[in-house]
Amino acid sequence: MPLRVRLTLWYGTALALVLMIFSVILYAMTARNLRDAVDQSLEETATTAVRSLEERGFLPLINEEELLSQFPELTRIDKFFQIFSPSGTISIRSPNIKQHEVPLSRTALDTAFAGQSIFESAKYPNEPPLRLISVPIMYRGNLLYIVQVGTSMESVGETLHRFLILLVVAIPIALTVSLAGGWFLAGRALRPVDKIAVAAQRIAAGDLSQRLSMPAAHDEIGRLAAIFNNMIGRLDVSFRQIRQFTSDASHELRTPLTVMKGETDLVLRRPRALEDYKTVLESNLEEIDRMTRIVDELLFLSRADMGEVKMESLPVAMKSLVEDIHRQATLLGHDRNIEVVLGTVMPVVVQGDDLRLRELLLNLVENAMKYSYSGGKVEISLLNDGREARLSVTDHGIGIAPADHKRIFHRFFRTDVARAHTKKGTGLGLAICAWIADLHKGRVQVKSDLGQGSTFTVVLPLAHPPA
Ligand SMILES: Nc1ncnc2c1ncn2[C@@H]1O[C@H](COP(=O)(O)OP(=O)(O)O)[C@@H](O)[C@H]1O
Ligand SMILES: [Mg+2]
Repeated sequence: MPLRVRLTLWYGTALALVLMIFSVILYAMTARNLRDAVDQSLEETATTAVRSLEERGFLPLINEEELLSQFPELTRIDKFFQIFSPSGTISIRSPNIKQHEVPLSRTALDTAFAGQSIFESAKYPNEPPLRLISVPIMYRGNLLYIVQVGTSMESVGETLHRFLILLVVAIPIALTVSLAGGWFLAGRALRPVDKIAVAAQRIAAGDLSQRLSMPAAHDEIGRLAAIFNNMIGRLDVSFRQIRQFTSDASHELRTPLTVMKGETDLVLRRPRALEDYKTVLESNLEEIDRMTRIVDELLFLSRADMGEVKMESLPVAMKSLVEDIHRQATLLGHDRNIEVVLGTVMPVVVQGDDLRLRELLLNLVENAMKYSYSGGKVEISLLNDGREARLSVTDHGIGIAPADHKRIFHRFFRTDVARAHTKKGTGLGLAICAWIADLHKGRVQVKSDLGQGSTFTVVLPLAHPPA
Protein backbone atom coordinates (compact mmCIF):
# COMPACT_ATOMS: atom_id res chain seq x y z
CA MET A 1 0.00 0.00 0.00
CA PRO A 2 1.47 3.38 -0.92
CA LEU A 3 2.75 5.49 1.94
CA ARG A 4 0.36 8.28 1.02
CA VAL A 5 -2.68 6.02 1.43
CA ARG A 6 -1.34 4.59 4.67
CA LEU A 7 -0.63 8.01 6.16
CA THR A 8 -4.08 9.26 5.23
CA LEU A 9 -5.75 6.15 6.63
CA TRP A 10 -3.86 6.37 9.91
CA TYR A 11 -4.68 10.00 10.21
CA GLY A 12 -8.33 9.43 9.31
CA THR A 13 -8.73 6.60 11.82
CA ALA A 14 -7.20 8.66 14.61
CA LEU A 15 -9.37 11.63 13.76
CA ALA A 16 -12.56 9.52 13.56
CA LEU A 17 -11.80 8.04 16.96
CA VAL A 18 -11.25 11.45 18.52
CA LEU A 19 -14.41 12.85 16.97
CA MET A 20 -16.45 9.87 18.14
CA ILE A 21 -15.24 10.03 21.75
CA PHE A 22 -15.70 13.77 21.74
CA SER A 23 -19.28 13.45 20.43
CA VAL A 24 -20.27 10.80 22.94
CA ILE A 25 -19.00 12.94 25.81
CA LEU A 26 -20.64 16.04 24.41
CA TYR A 27 -23.94 14.24 23.93
CA ALA A 28 -23.93 12.76 27.43
CA MET A 29 -23.12 16.11 29.00
CA THR A 30 -25.79 17.91 27.02
CA ALA A 31 -28.41 15.31 27.99
CA ARG A 32 -27.45 15.65 31.61
CA ASN A 33 -27.50 19.45 31.57
CA LEU A 34 -30.90 19.52 29.92
CA ARG A 35 -32.35 17.14 32.53
CA ASP A 36 -30.76 19.16 35.33
CA ALA A 37 -32.40 22.30 33.93
CA VAL A 38 -35.78 20.54 33.86
CA ASP A 39 -35.27 19.31 37.43
CA GLN A 40 -34.34 22.77 38.60
CA SER A 41 -37.41 24.34 37.01
CA LEU A 42 -39.61 21.62 38.55
CA GLU A 43 -38.12 22.28 41.93
CA GLU A 44 -38.71 26.03 41.63
CA THR A 45 -42.33 25.50 40.67
CA ALA A 46 -42.86 23.03 43.48
CA THR A 47 -41.31 25.44 45.97
CA THR A 48 -43.66 28.19 44.81
CA ALA A 49 -46.66 25.90 45.14
CA VAL A 50 -45.67 24.78 48.61
CA ARG A 51 -45.10 28.37 49.70
CA SER A 52 -48.54 29.41 48.49
CA LEU A 53 -50.14 26.57 50.36
CA GLU A 54 -48.25 27.46 53.49
CA GLU A 55 -49.32 31.08 53.15
CA ARG A 56 -52.90 29.92 53.13
CA GLY A 57 -52.29 28.07 56.38
CA PHE A 58 -52.99 24.83 54.53
CA LEU A 59 -56.58 24.78 55.66
CA PRO A 60 -59.20 24.73 54.57
CA LEU A 61 -58.10 22.97 51.48
CA ILE A 62 -58.97 25.32 48.67
CA ASN A 63 -60.35 24.15 45.39
CA GLU A 64 -58.23 24.24 42.33
CA GLU A 65 -59.81 27.23 40.53
CA GLU A 66 -59.15 29.37 43.52
CA LEU A 67 -55.55 28.24 43.76
CA LEU A 68 -54.91 28.72 40.11
CA SER A 69 -56.41 32.17 39.91
CA GLN A 70 -54.32 33.23 42.81
CA PHE A 71 -51.04 31.65 41.59
CA PRO A 72 -51.01 31.90 37.86
CA GLU A 73 -47.43 30.50 37.74
CA LEU A 74 -48.95 27.14 38.61
CA THR A 75 -50.91 27.11 35.38
CA ARG A 76 -47.94 27.25 33.10
CA ILE A 77 -48.87 24.98 30.30
CA ASP A 78 -45.68 22.96 30.27
CA LYS A 79 -46.25 21.74 33.81
CA PHE A 80 -48.98 20.07 35.72
CA PHE A 81 -49.35 19.61 39.41
CA GLN A 82 -51.24 17.37 41.81
CA ILE A 83 -51.73 17.46 45.52
CA PHE A 84 -52.01 14.13 47.28
CA SER A 85 -53.25 13.38 50.76
CA PRO A 86 -50.97 11.29 52.94
CA SER A 87 -52.98 8.25 51.92
CA GLY A 88 -51.82 8.77 48.36
CA THR A 89 -55.19 9.87 46.96
CA ILE A 90 -55.49 12.95 44.82
CA SER A 91 -56.97 16.05 46.46
CA ILE A 92 -56.36 18.58 43.73
CA ARG A 93 -54.87 18.38 40.27
CA SER A 94 -54.32 20.89 37.54
CA PRO A 95 -56.53 20.59 34.50
CA ASN A 96 -53.69 20.22 31.99
CA ILE A 97 -53.12 16.65 33.04
CA LYS A 98 -55.63 14.99 30.81
CA GLN A 99 -54.74 11.80 29.09
CA HIS A 100 -54.39 9.55 32.10
CA GLU A 101 -53.82 9.24 35.79
CA VAL A 102 -50.36 9.82 37.15
CA PRO A 103 -50.51 8.00 40.48
CA LEU A 104 -48.12 8.63 43.32
CA SER A 105 -45.46 5.92 43.36
CA ARG A 106 -44.73 3.83 46.41
CA THR A 107 -41.22 5.19 46.65
CA ALA A 108 -42.47 8.78 46.45
CA LEU A 109 -44.92 8.15 49.28
CA ASP A 110 -42.28 6.54 51.49
CA THR A 111 -39.84 9.36 50.83
CA ALA A 112 -42.53 11.92 51.63
CA PHE A 113 -43.19 10.27 54.98
CA ALA A 114 -39.51 10.61 55.67
CA GLY A 115 -39.86 14.34 54.93
CA GLN A 116 -37.80 14.24 51.73
CA SER A 117 -38.42 15.40 48.20
CA ILE A 118 -37.81 13.05 45.28
CA PHE A 119 -37.34 13.28 41.50
CA GLU A 120 -38.74 10.49 39.35
CA SER A 121 -39.17 9.67 35.73
CA ALA A 122 -42.28 8.00 34.42
CA LYS A 123 -42.88 6.43 31.06
CA TYR A 124 -46.21 5.77 29.37
CA PRO A 125 -46.58 4.05 26.06
CA ASN A 126 -46.57 6.26 22.92
CA GLU A 127 -45.70 9.34 24.91
CA PRO A 128 -42.57 11.24 25.76
CA PRO A 129 -41.39 10.42 29.29
CA LEU A 130 -42.52 12.51 32.27
CA ARG A 131 -40.31 14.02 34.92
CA LEU A 132 -41.82 14.43 38.37
CA ILE A 133 -40.94 15.99 41.70
CA SER A 134 -42.84 15.07 44.85
CA VAL A 135 -42.49 17.44 47.83
CA PRO A 136 -43.97 16.73 51.26
CA ILE A 137 -45.70 19.42 53.32
CA MET A 138 -45.17 18.73 56.98
CA TYR A 139 -46.88 20.28 59.91
CA ARG A 140 -45.52 19.61 63.35
CA GLY A 141 -43.80 16.48 62.21
CA ASN A 142 -46.88 15.12 60.44
CA LEU A 143 -47.31 14.72 56.74
CA LEU A 144 -50.16 16.94 55.56
CA TYR A 145 -49.96 16.81 51.81
CA ILE A 146 -47.72 15.79 49.01
CA VAL A 147 -47.31 18.30 46.21
CA GLN A 148 -46.27 16.80 42.94
CA VAL A 149 -45.17 18.85 39.93
CA GLY A 150 -44.49 17.18 36.61
CA THR A 151 -43.55 18.03 33.11
CA SER A 152 -43.11 16.27 29.82
CA MET A 153 -39.56 15.59 28.63
CA GLU A 154 -40.71 16.05 25.05
CA SER A 155 -38.76 19.22 24.33
CA VAL A 156 -35.61 17.77 25.92
CA GLY A 157 -35.99 14.69 23.76
CA GLU A 158 -36.45 16.82 20.69
CA THR A 159 -33.41 18.93 21.46
CA LEU A 160 -31.28 15.85 22.00
CA HIS A 161 -32.59 14.31 18.82
CA ARG A 162 -31.74 17.42 16.81
CA PHE A 163 -28.30 17.45 18.40
CA LEU A 164 -27.76 13.81 17.50
CA ILE A 165 -28.75 14.44 13.89
CA LEU A 166 -26.36 17.37 13.80
CA LEU A 167 -23.52 15.14 15.04
CA VAL A 168 -24.36 12.33 12.64
CA VAL A 169 -24.32 14.75 9.71
CA ALA A 170 -21.43 16.97 10.82
CA ILE A 171 -18.94 14.25 11.78
CA PRO A 172 -18.77 12.53 8.39
CA ILE A 173 -18.52 15.92 6.69
CA ALA A 174 -15.69 17.02 9.00
CA LEU A 175 -14.01 13.66 8.52
CA THR A 176 -14.26 13.83 4.74
CA VAL A 177 -12.87 17.35 4.62
CA SER A 178 -9.99 16.42 6.93
CA LEU A 179 -9.21 13.28 4.96
CA ALA A 180 -9.09 15.30 1.77
CA GLY A 181 -6.76 17.75 3.49
CA GLY A 182 -4.63 14.92 4.83
CA TRP A 183 -4.45 13.31 1.40
CA PHE A 184 -3.35 16.60 -0.11
CA LEU A 185 -0.72 17.25 2.59
CA ALA A 186 0.64 13.70 2.45
CA GLY A 187 0.92 13.99 -1.31
CA ARG A 188 2.73 17.31 -1.02
CA ALA A 189 5.14 16.01 1.61
CA LEU A 190 5.89 12.86 -0.37
CA ARG A 191 6.26 14.43 -3.80
CA PRO A 192 10.03 15.07 -3.42
CA VAL A 193 10.50 11.45 -2.35
CA ASP A 194 8.70 10.38 -5.49
CA LYS A 195 10.93 12.61 -7.57
CA ILE A 196 14.01 11.12 -5.95
CA ALA A 197 12.71 7.60 -6.61
CA VAL A 198 12.16 8.36 -10.31
CA ALA A 199 15.59 9.94 -10.65
CA ALA A 200 17.20 7.09 -8.73
CA GLN A 201 15.60 4.62 -11.07
CA ARG A 202 17.06 6.46 -14.05
CA ILE A 203 20.48 6.39 -12.43
CA ALA A 204 20.13 2.74 -11.45
CA ALA A 205 19.27 1.93 -15.06
CA GLY A 206 22.87 2.63 -15.93
CA ASP A 207 24.06 6.19 -16.00
CA LEU A 208 26.14 6.70 -12.87
CA SER A 209 27.33 10.10 -14.05
CA GLN A 210 23.87 11.53 -13.37
CA ARG A 211 22.98 13.22 -10.10
CA LEU A 212 19.75 14.13 -8.38
CA SER A 213 18.75 17.76 -8.67
CA MET A 214 19.07 19.05 -5.14
CA PRO A 215 16.04 20.59 -3.46
CA ALA A 216 16.81 24.04 -2.06
CA ALA A 217 15.70 23.15 1.46
CA HIS A 218 18.15 21.63 3.94
CA ASP A 219 15.42 19.41 5.34
CA GLU A 220 15.23 15.61 5.54
CA ILE A 221 14.60 15.34 1.81
CA GLY A 222 17.51 17.65 1.03
CA ARG A 223 19.76 15.50 3.20
CA LEU A 224 18.50 12.34 1.56
CA ALA A 225 19.28 13.73 -1.88
CA ALA A 226 22.74 14.83 -0.76
CA ILE A 227 23.54 11.44 0.74
CA PHE A 228 22.22 9.72 -2.34
CA ASN A 229 24.34 11.88 -4.65
CA ASN A 230 27.35 11.23 -2.50
CA MET A 231 26.73 7.50 -2.69
CA ILE A 232 26.31 7.58 -6.47
CA GLY A 233 29.54 9.56 -6.71
CA ARG A 234 31.43 6.93 -4.78
CA LEU A 235 29.85 4.11 -6.75
CA ASP A 236 30.81 5.91 -9.93
CA VAL A 237 34.42 6.17 -8.81
CA SER A 238 34.67 2.58 -7.68
CA PHE A 239 33.01 1.24 -10.84
CA ARG A 240 35.47 3.23 -12.89
CA GLN A 241 38.30 1.81 -10.81
CA ILE A 242 37.04 -1.70 -11.25
CA ARG A 243 36.75 -1.26 -15.01
CA GLN A 244 40.20 0.27 -15.16
CA PHE A 245 41.58 -2.48 -12.97
CA THR A 246 40.03 -5.25 -15.06
CA SER A 247 41.37 -3.79 -18.26
CA ASP A 248 44.82 -3.29 -16.71
CA ALA A 249 44.86 -6.81 -15.33
CA SER A 250 43.83 -8.32 -18.65
CA HIS A 251 46.44 -6.27 -20.42
CA GLU A 252 49.19 -7.27 -18.01
CA LEU A 253 48.31 -10.94 -18.38
CA ARG A 254 47.96 -10.69 -22.13
CA THR A 255 51.44 -9.37 -22.74
CA PRO A 256 53.28 -12.47 -21.48
CA LEU A 257 50.75 -14.67 -23.27
CA THR A 258 51.40 -12.84 -26.53
CA VAL A 259 55.14 -13.21 -26.08
CA MET A 260 54.83 -16.92 -25.31
CA LYS A 261 52.52 -17.53 -28.24
CA GLY A 262 54.75 -15.61 -30.65
CA GLU A 263 57.87 -17.44 -29.61
CA THR A 264 56.17 -20.83 -29.58
CA ASP A 265 54.61 -20.26 -33.01
CA LEU A 266 57.94 -19.22 -34.41
CA VAL A 267 59.89 -22.14 -33.07
CA LEU A 268 57.29 -24.65 -34.23
CA ARG A 269 57.26 -23.33 -37.79
CA ARG A 270 60.01 -25.76 -38.78
CA PRO A 271 62.24 -28.32 -37.08
CA ARG A 272 64.89 -26.69 -34.88
CA ALA A 273 67.96 -27.60 -33.00
CA LEU A 274 67.40 -28.76 -29.43
CA GLU A 275 69.07 -25.59 -28.16
CA ASP A 276 66.39 -23.42 -29.78
CA TYR A 277 63.56 -25.29 -28.08
CA LYS A 278 65.34 -24.95 -24.81
CA THR A 279 65.73 -21.22 -25.25
CA VAL A 280 62.04 -20.78 -26.02
CA LEU A 281 60.98 -22.96 -23.11
CA GLU A 282 63.21 -21.00 -20.76
CA SER A 283 61.76 -17.75 -22.01
CA ASN A 284 58.28 -19.18 -21.61
CA LEU A 285 59.07 -20.21 -18.06
CA GLU A 286 60.07 -16.65 -17.30
CA GLU A 287 56.75 -15.40 -18.62
CA ILE A 288 54.91 -18.08 -16.68
CA ASP A 289 56.71 -16.98 -13.52
CA ARG A 290 55.68 -13.42 -14.21
CA MET A 291 52.07 -14.39 -14.74
CA THR A 292 52.09 -16.53 -11.63
CA ARG A 293 53.39 -13.58 -9.68
CA ILE A 294 50.72 -11.26 -11.09
CA VAL A 295 47.99 -13.77 -10.28
CA ASP A 296 49.34 -14.34 -6.76
CA GLU A 297 49.53 -10.65 -6.03
CA LEU A 298 46.11 -10.05 -7.51
CA LEU A 299 44.71 -12.80 -5.38
CA PHE A 300 46.31 -11.30 -2.32
CA LEU A 301 44.96 -7.84 -3.07
CA SER A 302 41.46 -9.06 -3.80
CA ARG A 303 41.43 -11.07 -0.59
CA ALA A 304 42.72 -8.00 1.21
CA ASP A 305 39.91 -5.95 -0.33
CA MET A 306 37.39 -8.45 0.99
CA GLY A 307 38.99 -8.36 4.43
CA GLU A 308 40.02 -12.00 4.25
CA VAL A 309 43.72 -11.51 4.91
CA LYS A 310 44.54 -12.19 8.54
CA MET A 311 46.83 -9.77 10.36
CA GLU A 312 48.58 -10.50 13.62
CA SER A 313 48.88 -7.73 16.16
CA LEU A 314 52.01 -8.53 18.15
CA PRO A 315 55.07 -6.52 19.15
CA VAL A 316 57.64 -6.75 16.34
CA ALA A 317 61.32 -5.94 16.95
CA MET A 318 62.09 -4.03 13.79
CA LYS A 319 65.85 -4.01 14.21
CA SER A 320 66.29 -7.75 13.76
CA LEU A 321 63.74 -7.74 10.97
CA VAL A 322 65.79 -5.10 9.11
CA GLU A 323 68.97 -7.09 9.65
CA ASP A 324 67.33 -10.24 8.27
CA ILE A 325 66.16 -8.49 5.14
CA HIS A 326 69.55 -6.89 4.77
CA ARG A 327 71.20 -10.32 4.74
CA GLN A 328 68.67 -11.60 2.21
CA ALA A 329 69.13 -8.55 -0.03
CA THR A 330 72.90 -8.69 0.13
CA LEU A 331 72.75 -12.16 -1.41
CA LEU A 332 70.40 -11.03 -4.14
CA GLY A 333 72.51 -7.94 -4.80
CA HIS A 334 75.57 -10.03 -5.25
CA ASP A 335 74.26 -11.44 -8.54
CA ARG A 336 73.23 -8.02 -9.80
CA ASN A 337 76.29 -6.19 -8.67
CA ILE A 338 74.38 -4.00 -6.28
CA GLU A 339 75.56 -3.22 -2.79
CA VAL A 340 73.03 -3.20 0.02
CA VAL A 341 74.20 -1.42 3.16
CA LEU A 342 72.73 -0.62 6.55
CA GLY A 343 72.59 2.98 7.66
CA THR A 344 71.56 3.97 11.17
CA VAL A 345 69.48 1.21 12.71
CA MET A 346 67.86 2.01 16.04
CA PRO A 347 65.96 -0.50 18.13
CA VAL A 348 62.22 -0.01 17.59
CA VAL A 349 59.21 -2.08 18.48
CA VAL A 350 56.01 -1.67 16.52
CA GLN A 351 52.69 -3.44 16.92
CA GLY A 352 51.77 -5.64 13.98
CA ASP A 353 52.39 -8.64 11.82
CA ASP A 354 56.01 -9.72 11.46
CA LEU A 355 55.51 -11.55 8.14
CA ARG A 356 53.64 -8.67 6.52
CA LEU A 357 56.21 -6.13 7.65
CA ARG A 358 58.95 -8.31 6.17
CA GLU A 359 57.02 -8.46 2.91
CA LEU A 360 56.65 -4.69 2.95
CA LEU A 361 60.35 -4.04 3.44
CA LEU A 362 61.39 -6.72 0.97
CA ASN A 363 59.16 -5.18 -1.68
CA LEU A 364 60.78 -1.79 -1.19
CA VAL A 365 64.30 -3.22 -1.22
CA GLU A 366 63.56 -5.26 -4.32
CA ASN A 367 62.24 -2.15 -6.06
CA ALA A 368 65.32 -0.19 -5.02
CA MET A 369 67.58 -2.88 -6.42
CA LYS A 370 65.49 -3.36 -9.53
CA TYR A 371 65.45 0.34 -10.39
CA SER A 372 69.14 0.91 -9.56
CA TYR A 373 71.88 0.90 -12.13
CA SER A 374 74.48 -1.81 -12.10
CA GLY A 375 77.06 -1.08 -9.41
CA GLY A 376 74.56 0.99 -7.47
CA LYS A 377 74.10 1.19 -3.74
CA VAL A 378 70.96 0.68 -1.68
CA GLU A 379 70.78 1.79 1.92
CA ILE A 380 68.34 0.65 4.58
CA SER A 381 67.93 2.64 7.77
CA LEU A 382 65.65 2.55 10.78
CA LEU A 383 65.08 5.62 12.94
CA ASN A 384 63.10 6.12 16.12
CA ASP A 385 62.07 9.70 16.82
CA GLY A 386 60.27 8.77 20.03
CA ARG A 387 56.83 8.91 18.44
CA GLU A 388 57.19 6.99 15.21
CA ALA A 389 59.43 4.46 13.56
CA ARG A 390 60.87 5.60 10.21
CA LEU A 391 62.05 2.76 8.01
CA SER A 392 63.78 4.06 4.86
CA VAL A 393 65.13 2.47 1.69
CA THR A 394 67.30 4.73 -0.46
CA ASP A 395 68.66 4.05 -3.93
CA HIS A 396 70.48 6.05 -6.59
CA GLY A 397 68.63 4.63 -9.55
CA ILE A 398 66.23 5.88 -12.18
CA GLY A 399 64.03 7.90 -9.83
CA ILE A 400 60.37 8.91 -10.20
CA ALA A 401 58.95 12.16 -11.55
CA PRO A 402 57.01 14.05 -8.82
CA ALA A 403 53.84 13.84 -10.93
CA ASP A 404 53.89 10.05 -10.52
CA HIS A 405 54.54 9.96 -6.78
CA LYS A 406 50.88 9.23 -6.04
CA ARG A 407 50.19 7.00 -9.01
CA ILE A 408 52.94 4.48 -8.34
CA PHE A 409 50.75 3.15 -5.50
CA HIS A 410 47.88 2.43 -7.91
CA ARG A 411 47.49 -1.13 -9.02
CA PHE A 412 49.37 -1.96 -12.23
CA PHE A 413 50.82 1.50 -12.61
CA ARG A 414 54.45 1.48 -13.74
CA THR A 415 56.30 4.53 -14.99
CA ASP A 416 57.49 4.52 -18.58
CA VAL A 417 61.05 4.87 -17.33
CA ALA A 418 60.61 1.79 -15.17
CA ARG A 419 59.14 -0.19 -18.06
CA ALA A 420 62.07 0.81 -20.21
CA HIS A 421 64.50 -0.09 -17.46
CA THR A 422 63.23 -3.59 -16.80
CA LYS A 423 60.57 -5.92 -18.04
CA LYS A 424 60.31 -7.51 -14.64
CA GLY A 425 57.58 -6.13 -12.46
CA THR A 426 53.85 -6.26 -12.07
CA GLY A 427 53.00 -2.81 -10.80
CA LEU A 428 51.27 -4.39 -7.80
CA GLY A 429 54.08 -4.35 -5.23
CA LEU A 430 53.60 -0.82 -3.96
CA ALA A 431 49.81 -1.26 -3.78
CA ILE A 432 50.44 -4.16 -1.42
CA CYS A 433 53.00 -2.10 0.55
CA ALA A 434 50.50 0.75 0.99
CA TRP A 435 47.87 -1.71 2.13
CA ILE A 436 50.16 -3.29 4.73
CA ALA A 437 51.29 0.11 6.02
CA ASP A 438 47.68 1.23 6.23
CA LEU A 439 46.70 -1.76 8.34
CA HIS A 440 49.52 -0.87 10.72
CA LYS A 441 48.10 2.66 10.96
CA GLY A 442 51.17 3.87 9.10
CA ARG A 443 51.96 5.29 5.67
CA VAL A 444 54.54 5.10 2.89
CA GLN A 445 56.26 8.33 1.81
CA VAL A 446 58.26 8.90 -1.37
CA LYS A 447 61.10 11.32 -1.95
CA SER A 448 62.38 11.08 -5.48
CA ASP A 449 63.23 12.88 -8.66
CA LEU A 450 63.77 11.56 -12.13
CA GLY A 451 67.34 10.29 -12.52
CA GLN A 452 68.20 11.22 -8.96
CA GLY A 453 67.33 8.03 -7.10
CA SER A 454 64.54 7.54 -4.59
CA THR A 455 63.90 7.22 -0.90
CA PHE A 456 60.85 5.28 0.28
CA THR A 457 60.05 5.78 3.96
CA VAL A 458 57.57 3.69 5.92
CA VAL A 459 56.28 5.58 8.95
CA LEU A 460 54.81 3.32 11.63
CA PRO A 461 53.45 4.13 15.08
CA LEU A 462 55.45 2.68 17.98
CA ALA A 463 54.05 -0.26 19.90
CA HIS A 464 54.14 1.59 23.24
CA PRO A 465 54.50 5.28 22.62
CA PRO A 466 55.86 7.12 25.70
CA ALA A 467 53.06 8.84 27.58
N1 LIG B 1 62.94 2.55 -6.10
C1 LIG B 1 62.27 2.96 -7.19
N2 LIG B 1 62.90 3.74 -8.12
C2 LIG B 1 62.21 4.17 -9.17
N3 LIG B 1 60.94 3.85 -9.46
C3 LIG B 1 60.30 3.10 -8.58
C4 LIG B 1 60.92 2.60 -7.41
N4 LIG B 1 60.03 1.87 -6.74
C5 LIG B 1 58.87 1.91 -7.46
N5 LIG B 1 59.03 2.62 -8.56
C6 LIG B 1 58.01 2.92 -9.57
O1 LIG B 1 56.78 2.57 -9.07
C7 LIG B 1 56.17 1.59 -9.90
C8 LIG B 1 55.34 0.65 -9.08
O2 LIG B 1 56.13 -0.12 -8.23
P1 LIG B 1 55.65 -1.55 -7.85
O3 LIG B 1 54.22 -1.43 -7.47
O4 LIG B 1 56.57 -2.13 -6.86
O5 LIG B 1 55.69 -2.30 -9.23
P2 LIG B 1 56.87 -3.08 -9.91
O6 LIG B 1 58.01 -3.13 -8.95
O7 LIG B 1 56.31 -4.39 -10.22
O8 LIG B 1 57.18 -2.29 -11.13
C9 LIG B 1 57.32 0.94 -10.58
O9 LIG B 1 56.94 0.35 -11.77
C10 LIG B 1 58.22 2.12 -10.82
O10 LIG B 1 57.77 2.86 -11.90
MG1 LIG C 1 57.84 -3.86 -7.00
